[in-house]
Amino acid sequence: MKVQLSDIKVLFSEEQIQKRIKEIASEMNEFYNGEEVYAVCVLKGAVMFAADLVKCLNMPLRFEFIRLSSYGSATTTSGKVNAVDISLPDLNGKNVLIIEDIVDTGLTAKFLLDFIHCNFKTKSVKFASLLDKKIFRQTEIEPDYMGFHVDDKFLIGYGLDYDGYYRNLRYIGYADKSLLE
Ligand code: IMP
Repeated sequence: MKVQLSDIKVLFSEEQIQKRIKEIASEMNEFYNGEEVYAVCVLKGAVMFAADLVKCLNMPLRFEFIRLSSYGSATTTSGKVNAVDISLPDLNGKNVLIIEDIVDTGLTAKFLLDFIHCNFKTKSVKFASLLDKKIFRQTEIEPDYMGFHVDDKFLIGYGLDYDGYYRNLRYIGYADKSLLE
């Protein structure tokens, strides 16, 4: 593995992430005002964000998981979204909150939003992403809730992986591009 732990520079610390999650959760608690929510965590990347976020939400909530992939082991998107497991309960009439790690090209978000709109008549659909990387956006997608804007860096940690590693980091960091090639 080219990228070692010591190569990863901190971009957002654990404290910054947790503070921002509390701010987002309080916006959500105000918006949903006690109504039931079906939170859909997009595995694997959103696992940390979703777990920390739902702990700060105060409405009746069902926690669902789907698994999509577009990267494989590379550090750029393949441009094709692969639905590894998209089994969901009946979302008709429900408030659906999609929880993602990062919106990059936006193809994954578009795929998922299209899937939900084609299959269910929901009460509402909101899209939350911890990170928003607009520079390579190929769709019109804008997250309804967003943690941090990021520029052209490949991010690692807090759910985001480098070749399957480092999802367990408590912070979000990046490595020099030369190490990723
Ligand atoms: P999109 O379909 O291009 O918006 O990419 C969405 C998925 O690509 C995310 O859910 C991540 O799993 C992955 N991804 C995008 N950018 C990064 C990154 O900087 N680090 C790690 N994974 C990323």
